[in-house]
Amino acid sequence: MVFRHKHILGIEHLSRDDIQTILDTAENFREINSREIKKVPTLRGKTIINLFYEASTRTRTSFEIAGKRLSADTINISASGSSVSKGETLEDTARNLEAMHPDIIVMRHAASGAPHYLAERIGCSVINAGDGAHEHPSQALLDLLTIRQHKKTFEGLTVAIVGDIAHSRVARSNLYALTRMGAKVRLAGPGTMIPPGIERLGAEVYTDIREAIRDADVVMMLRIQLERQGKTLLPTLREYARFYGLNQENLKLAKGDAIVMHPGPMNRGVEISSYVADGNQNVILEQVENGVAVRMALLYLVAGGESKE
Ligand code: CP
Repeated sequence: MVFRHKHILGIEHLSRDDIQTILDTAENFREINSREIKKVPTLRGKTIINLFYEASTRTRTSFEIAGKRLSADTINISASGSSVSKGETLEDTARNLEAMHPDIIVMRHAASGAPHYLAERIGCSVINAGDGAHEHPSQALLDLLTIRQHKKTFEGLTVAIVGDIAHSRVARSNLYALTRMGAKVRLAGPGTMIPPGIERLGAEVYTDIREAIRDADVVMMLRIQLERQGKTLLPTLREYARFYGLNQENLKLAKGDAIVMHPGPMNRGVEISSYVADGNQNVILEQVENGVAVRMALLYLVAGGESKE
């Protein structure tokens, strides 16, 4: 399989074959992560800059680990520790970074479209590590890898995604990826947190969590994105937890072998009870583990790993 994308800006632009290639490549890289010496020379001589304008634990760490395990030189830049805090524009920052000849820039930004803006202006590859409420492609891909490991196929699966859909880049990327691979996606949340017209992207929409998770194979819970909500969209967190939180009782409505997912960071006691978050149906830390392999695959593929037939 040939992978011809220079950038990974979103799932929207990836075909079913592209997604399959990324998941298969990640599956191959997983083995390296359990070796005693977790390093291969695949990207030796390549330079990767992680440019994060928003907080991150999982994404930034796993992109850094992924780059290092492939022997790339990996540099982390956060907005607070860079000249962005002195007023430098994104374009000037990008041009200055480009002058140092990186091969890949991994970028997270609060503005939707910021990685696309960067990709149009510089010569190296750009990977979107989350842009505003738009997309978080590497998260969706690690979610799909985790689902495939448990369910073997996407065809015929029902995946319920519950929470603040309107402000969730994870929901949008998963919706694109899961529907493209043949799964049925149900989106659920308070009416104020469901974007109008989202059905047109192939989702079924619910405002009752119980209906959304009934007979689901996968239940994916999302955090309320208070940092992206311009005004309060719900009365109290306690009320939200009562009507939209996943707990021991409503989880029984899903299939008996349903898996419970969460991209993190979790707000225990709000969108998910601690009992469920730590229960035997949760695969949350498997998602994190798969994040390293998926990001190794993305770095390898955009660096040209599969471009020769
Ligand atoms: N899932 C996710 O993007 O987590 P971080 O914000 O910690 O990177």
